[in-house]
Amino acid sequence: MAKPKSIFVCAECGATALKWMGMCPSCGEAGTMSEQAAERGARASGPAASPVALAEVEAREVERLATGLPELDRVLGGGLVAGQVTLIGGDPGIGKSTLLLQALAALGSERKALYVSGEESAEQVALRARRLGVGTAGVGLLAEIQLERVLGALQAERPEVAVVDSIQTLWSETLQSAPGSVAQVRECAAQLTRHAKKAGTALFIVGHVTKEGAIAGPRVLEHIVDTVLYFEGDPHSAFRLVRAVKNRFGAVNELGVFAMTDAGLRAVANPSALFLQRHEKDVAGSCVLATLEGTRPLLVEIQALVDAAHAPNPRRLTVGLEQNRLAMLLAVLHRHAGIATMDQDVFVNAVGGVRIGEPAADLAAALAIVSSLTDRPIPGKLLAFGEVGLAGEVRPAPRGQDRLKEAAKLGFERAIVPKANAPKGRIAGLEVIVVERVDQAVRLLRDL
Ligand code: TYD
Ligand code: MG
Repeated sequence: MAKPKSIFVCAECGATALKWMGMCPSCGEAGTMSEQAAERGARASGPAASPVALAEVEAREVERLATGLPELDRVLGGGLVAGQVTLIGGDPGIGKSTLLLQALAALGSERKALYVSGEESAEQVALRARRLGVGTAGVGLLAEIQLERVLGALQAERPEVAVVDSIQTLWSETLQSAPGSVAQVRECAAQLTRHAKKAGTALFIVGHVTKEGAIAGPRVLEHIVDTVLYFEGDPHSAFRLVRAVKNRFGAVNELGVFAMTDAGLRAVANPSALFLQRHEKDVAGSCVLATLEGTRPLLVEIQALVDAAHAPNPRRLTVGLEQNRLAMLLAVLHRHAGIATMDQDVFVNAVGGVRIGEPAADLAAALAIVSSLTDRPIPGKLLAFGEVGLAGEVRPAPRGQDRLKEAAKLGFERAIVPKANAPKGRIAGLEVIVVERVDQAVRLLRDL
């Protein structure tokens, strides 16, 4: 079959088609397909590669390079690995450049480090380093946006750690499209990755998040790199979370917690304290949840407000929790615990701008809702966790022991937990109450 002379590529998702289409067949975006020259590679044949028996491959523990920022190391799974390519994404202004400059400065005292800045001039980077008060003795700086020149510098300098800030500013002379386009971003990332692997450089690639919430050229980079970190946080608060969503060298969903200060990012030693609202006295509609972020237990206050609805369709709104789970939870509460909220607006919020995806948040949310509806505060120093099933059962959450220990450490005195999460031994200072059904938990609240 004759090779086509050109193909059509979607600028949004990178899907390809043989003919032009008004709407991308993959992501459905309109007007994003554009023509590109098809690659004409002759089919090459070479000597066959020979596989080895998996059992005979010697697996060694990889050596980790500490970045000097323990919170970042935690997210990376214990530090950097030679040749590791890490994509760090986030909204503009969230602190990506600051974080990486701090890490490089800490690393630069012992290792050769290179900071490639395509967004800021050398002076701006130097100024920032001075403001951060970090030593930059061993850090090389390159203000460059042309990929081939960046690769040349990496080749010549051979740094152990390098940062490219950001991938959207880079452009390769082999492509016609503009910097930041999917083709450019993909090509530049692929070439940088190839170099990092060959040279054993641990490379950070900064990527801005587009308004749709995906790193530009959505997903096209995530599969190229080893590790994907997202830098998130409420712009109105100083707290910043670094989350691993993909990691070939460690666990995902690890969380690093930082605070943005006037001297850069500082690690937050006790993140649980951050997500607990301090109330003078107990208030209705609040219940503390012991959740899990990666391997780290985290205490978060869940707030609920239940108020008479003034529209025919009562509102169900969540911030930081899943909207659909709230609707489900309200149905379960009604059916299995006799709590009716048909004529009530229900709002549920996870304090501190944290996002909770796990179903173990159900029980705490349910208790907060009941507390708000009945206008009865949950007496202080109590926490809860557990998944609520459609049959009204309370299901266990993973690593209940760790959650309870974290709660005890922070001075909590009582915990309502699923039966299967009952600790084997006593946890000093913590009274653990087990429940099997959601109505049991609701009744318990009444008797407290
Ligand atoms: P930056 O690292 O430039 O964000 P990104 O690279 O993700 O776009 O962070 C910029 C913001 O951080 C800016 O709004 C100012 C603030 N900031 C501080 O509050 N303290 C500091 O010491 C620094 C360097 C920045
Ligand atoms: Mg920046």
